[in-house]
Amino acid sequence: MFEVIEQNIRTHIHNAREVLKNLKKIGRIQKEDDISYDIFMELLSHPSRDVRVEAVKNLGKFNSEYILLSLKQHYYEESDSLVKRECVSSIGRQRDSGQIDFFIDILQEKDPKIVLQAIRALLVFKTQEKVQKALKKLLNHPNEMIKEVLEIEFTKRPPRPKEKHSHVHPKLKNTVVNADVLHVLQLIKNESFHLTFTSPPYYNARDYSFYASYQEYLDFLRAVFKETHRLTKNGRFLIVNTSPVIVPRTSRKHSSKRYPIPFDVHALLVQDGWEFIDDIIWQKPEYSVKNRIGGFMQHRKPLAYKPNCTTEYLMVYRKKSRDLIDWNIKQYEEEIVKESKVKDGFETTNIWKLDPTFDKTHSAVFPRSLCDRIVKYYSFVGDLVFDPFGGSGTLGEVAHHLGRNFFLTEIDQNYFKRIQERLSSTLAYKQYFNLQEFQAWMQQEK
Ligand SMILES: C[S@@+](CC[C@H](N)C(=O)[O-])C[C@H]1O[C@@H](n2cnc3c(N)ncnc32)[C@H](O)[C@@H]1O
Repeated sequence: MFEVIEQNIRTHIHNAREVLKNLKKIGRIQKEDDISYDIFMELLSHPSRDVRVEAVKNLGKFNSEYILLSLKQHYYEESDSLVKRECVSSIGRQRDSGQIDFFIDILQEKDPKIVLQAIRALLVFKTQEKVQKALKKLLNHPNEMIKEVLEIEFTKRPPRPKEKHSHVHPKLKNTVVNADVLHVLQLIKNESFHLTFTSPPYYNARDYSFYASYQEYLDFLRAVFKETHRLTKNGRFLIVNTSPVIVPRTSRKHSSKRYPIPFDVHALLVQDGWEFIDDIIWQKPEYSVKNRIGGFMQHRKPLAYKPNCTTEYLMVYRKKSRDLIDWNIKQYEEEIVKESKVKDGFETTNIWKLDPTFDKTHSAVFPRSLCDRIVKYYSFVGDLVFDPFGGSGTLGEVAHHLGRNFFLTEIDQNYFKRIQERLSSTLAYKQYFNLQEFQAWMQQEK
């Protein structure tokens, strides 16, 4: 079999596609196969880098001092980064402590992927002092992935809370507090929430919010999401619904101003320990704010094109964690995981076409269908779901309907009343507080 492949390669040596096709047919190579590596050595000088990569991969399957030396030599002669990386990977797979100096040497490489490959190879020998010393030097490496790998290896993980990951503080269950969210959050202890889904005020674009400046608004949101980060359980999610807003022009001499809220908030969130996961577009059937395209329709002059916006963003973040999502899932009883499984008919793309909803009291409410998806896709039955900007309480209502607990804060008294009205018929156990009452409640013994 191998002889046929080798012959095919030699016949079509100038046709990279044919060579590759044949190289890919070669599976594992065992000692007893008695295969000669000559053809792979020859292919190291093939003009196609893909062929060279496959040749290196195949050479890595042999256990031979001579091949190790040849791969090392090729590493230094090779100019293509992908082939170089494959050389490091093939040499690393030999787990030969005699190569430690080689791997330490290439930690200086510019291509972070080569450095990562060398780190992987060195971690096999991480108990050796020389290896530890070389790797620890990279803890301040400018590349974030390199830094992260080494932090996980060489720094202590933060202590885990006493409670089980699925635990919900009984005093926070199905609770609504009528106060400024920042005052409320400081009364709650770390790692209390499983999921936060919220739609913050739209800067000064709606009547219920007022900020002295855009910077003040961003500072406020940053403070709220920093506190939310502290209160979020290890590796759990935050989903922020925003869109750019327009603050209308003051006179004909000025233009209206458009604020890119999702993009500005994004930069702050990732700085503060939230890992970006996804951008989901909520597409509505029609634009909901002022018609922007009207003028252009008349004059058709370039530069003055302004489309009507029918979308909002749902930006998905995860509290940065050393644990994979699998760890989070494993913290739940099998029964809960089963009960929380998402049924058929779920959305498979990041464009969610959903109709908006209107409320008699509140001017900007979530549609229930939107909360329904977020709660189902990003939480388990029994979890505690939080909305810092509770509004009319849509998230609370939906969370309860889906067997989750909720915690909401809302500053406005009328909206707070609307929440009470909405929730009164839906569930027997719920608690409404103002700030002082909530403070007293949290201080009470058990
Ligand atoms: C876009 S609305 C949220 C609507 C909500 N998603 C719903 O479905 O009804 C934002 C809400 O944040 C509230 N809010 C603004 N500043 C706040 C603060 N500092 N603390 C708590 N709530 C605040 C506003 O009163 C408003 O109801």
